[in-house]
Amino acid sequence: MLILGIETTCDETAAAVVSRSDDGRGRILSNIVLSQISEHAEFGGVVPEIAARAHVEALDRIIAKAMSEAQISFEALDGVAAAAGPGLIGGVIVGLTTAKAIALAHDKPLLAVNHLEAHALTARLTDATAFPYCLFLASGGHTQILGVRGVGDYLRLGGTVDDAIGEAFDKTAKLLGLGYPGGPLVEKEAARGDGERFVLPRPMTGRRDADFSFSGLKTALRLEAEKIAPLSDEDVADLCASFQQAVVDVVKDRLRNGLRLFRLRIGTPNALVCAGGVAANQAIRKVLHRVAFEVGTELVAPPPALCTDNAAMIAWAGAERLVLGLTDPLDIAPRARWPLDHVAKSEKTAER
Ligand code: KG4
Ligand code: ZN
Repeated sequence: MLILGIETTCDETAAAVVSRSDDGRGRILSNIVLSQISEHAEFGGVVPEIAARAHVEALDRIIAKAMSEAQISFEALDGVAAAAGPGLIGGVIVGLTTAKAIALAHDKPLLAVNHLEAHALTARLTDATAFPYCLFLASGGHTQILGVRGVGDYLRLGGTVDDAIGEAFDKTAKLLGLGYPGGPLVEKEAARGDGERFVLPRPMTGRRDADFSFSGLKTALRLEAEKIAPLSDEDVADLCASFQQAVVDVVKDRLRNGLRLFRLRIGTPNALVCAGGVAANQAIRKVLHRVAFEVGTELVAPPPALCTDNAAMIAWAGAERLVLGLTDPLDIAPRARWPLDHVAKSEKTAER
């Protein structure tokens, strides 16, 4: 089975071709990602209008490149998948409309994929992880702990009540004048800083649920920075290290609870899987390993390029859905909001 995948929900314009063999194994034939980071950098975050325009300008070329690297024609495809949400609606419209046009012109099935479902299923492409497993999705837009029971069968065990975890890293970087995107820059500073110097809160820890909150941590960090301004290089490094240590402690506590809830509601997980850009952080990976070890399961961490936004994951989720006959009509609407636990096994029964 050969699927073309298209991803345009945020600031990456991406296209990929993925194959799925009858035994369920996946293979990436091409995976092209064009990042718009430089176009948004001066604004310190993604500007939706700029993103949508950039997707329009680049997408046809990126698809052509993905097809030629995979050395196949549109005729050879078994389906065309695009992220139909959640995300910045202008960009989602660009990707989904393009997928519809290709599907219509070449008479191929359309697969309107939930971007979060694609993150959730990536471990099956890279590691053939069996259901059920516990997913920690940690990106610039999402922070969730999910029970993945099957394709289209997700149980939300915890999530953020305010900022996403990556957003907290980005805001910390912005506050300290480090640049965008902030995660890797904060991690680099933290490596040479003293994580014990500033006393920062660990929001939500100790509660019985598996939810997150980062806005209080962000405010506490700002107050500490204001107290000692102007900041020396050492101050910046110590603030980053203290912030990252607080985030790591929060992740440890919340994931322990998430896994406890998983056991209660689903059973024994086959793995703890991480996804999203924040999963690239070494300190966070270390604590994920530890938590997985504690409960006697393994950590499945896809390579960073497949943790961050890409189209191979969209194509793969499309393949998993096509195998089950879950194709979508050409009039399916793009969605800015689309919670993963509302992804039905069949789109025909899902609320639209
Ligand atoms: O998954 P992703 O590429 O895009 C979406 O947000 O969907 O994640 C990007 C986020 C940004 O907030 C970025 O700062 C964060 O992931 N990030 C990191 C690291 N690398 C990327 N956060 C912490 N440490 C990192 N090394
Ligand atoms: Zn994403």
